[in-house]
Amino acid sequence: MASVAVYPAAAEKIAADGGTVEGQSAAEPGRAIVALAFDASRSALIEASAGSLAVSTTGGRDWQPLAISATAARGPIAALAVSAGVHPVYYIAGRAFGVARSSDGGRTWAPANDGLPGRDVTSLTTHAVQPETVYAYLSGRGIFRSEDAGGHWRLMDAGPREAIVRLVHSDMPGSMQTGWLFAATANDVDRSMDCFCGWRDAGTLEHATRAVAYDRKDTKRVYGAAADALFVSRDGGEHWSRAPSAPSDVTALLGTPDGMLFAGTREGDVYASADHATTWRDAAGAGVAASSRLGAASSAVAASLAVEGRSIYAGDCASCHGVRGEGAPNWQHPDRDGEMPAPPHDASGHTWRHSDAMLYRLVEQGWRDPFNKTERLTMPAFKDALAPKQIVAVISYLKTLWSPDERKSQADESRGHPFPAAAP
Ligand code: HEC
Repeated sequence: MASVAVYPAAAEKIAADGGTVEGQSAAEPGRAIVALAFDASRSALIEASAGSLAVSTTGGRDWQPLAISATAARGPIAALAVSAGVHPVYYIAGRAFGVARSSDGGRTWAPANDGLPGRDVTSLTTHAVQPETVYAYLSGRGIFRSEDAGGHWRLMDAGPREAIVRLVHSDMPGSMQTGWLFAATANDVDRSMDCFCGWRDAGTLEHATRAVAYDRKDTKRVYGAAADALFVSRDGGEHWSRAPSAPSDVTALLGTPDGMLFAGTREGDVYASADHATTWRDAAGAGVAASSRLGAASSAVAASLAVEGRSIYAGDCASCHGVRGEGAPNWQHPDRDGEMPAPPHDASGHTWRHSDAMLYRLVEQGWRDPFNKTERLTMPAFKDALAPKQIVAVISYLKTLWSPDERKSQADESRGHPFPAAAP
């Protein structure tokens, strides 16, 4: 249709606006969070700003920068997505370099532009459940789909009338195909089934939106972030109302599989809501180290990790360390065999004195006191029994047994010695 001729002009206009919206203009170098993603294979949050990527496997307590090779990403990042599945692929996109992908958790990146008519990619989303399917939006061109994890792209659709600012695929029921696409645009939120059989305004949200997300546990609940408010729909985008509360200046939204909602802001902060945007936690409220700006967000994800960790503890650790982490009786003295008994993990012990890196290693590889009279690992190695994520989870649970001061001290200690970046 004529739309192709119309788009370049429209796209240029949005290019200027988009730069401002996403904090990527030269005047405001990229502190703003442009996208948040979740790697379910290792419960990792990923955040992107124009110039950097970071990953947290501790619900945001510790962040590791992810290197982005210069060949893959020449220019600001505008979008980030992580595929579903046990071997997730990470994608980033930006106007200067198109799409780059990483299949090793962000360690190495390669361009993935085969079939794209240009590099002007401004939005990207992965399919909610199909690991190989990913969608990219090119300004002035439309939406391209790859069904082989970025190996090749095919034009599907010109997209909605207004340029897409953010795109998210949703597995909300009711689609003729496999799901839906929601787009934040300069006018409102738009919606299409993923058969691309027509874009529509989703309801009557007459606000320019800069981010869109949905509740992974209750897929009809959709969120749209405008400059000064967050909007929620409970019926798949038909009716919208203002969220009870929201961080200011939200530039990125993410729903995670446990039903959490995360919001990244222009200031570069991340907030989390466990109750559908009714209340939010920020770093200040979370009681974590002040220097961890994501601490807050974090504590919500950490809390869900800790819940998982509690059952791991009950099954794998409590028999020796005590049901409540109280340790074996008389744990400070060698037993009859000349072995040190299992120490407590609660506030009376010294587990909290070890950094995340050290605790991870102890659980992964086991440990024995060097002066034990026997040679065996009295603290067994769990590397074959527990996945890296489970090790992180059980340690997250141990942290709930400590006093606030101990937690703070351990968090400080962990800043230089975090969980292994590879704890996938
Ligand atoms: C078979 C008994 C046993 C089981 C099961 C066990 N541990 Fe241990 N653990 C020990 C013993 C004994 C030590 C002390 C080793 C030493 O110092 O000689 C220890 C030490 C530790 C330490 C070091 C504590 C410190 O303050 O130095 C950590 C951390 C730990 N265990 C965590 C765990 C976790 C987490 C689990 C479950 C996934 C677990 N342990 C399961 C026996 C056990």
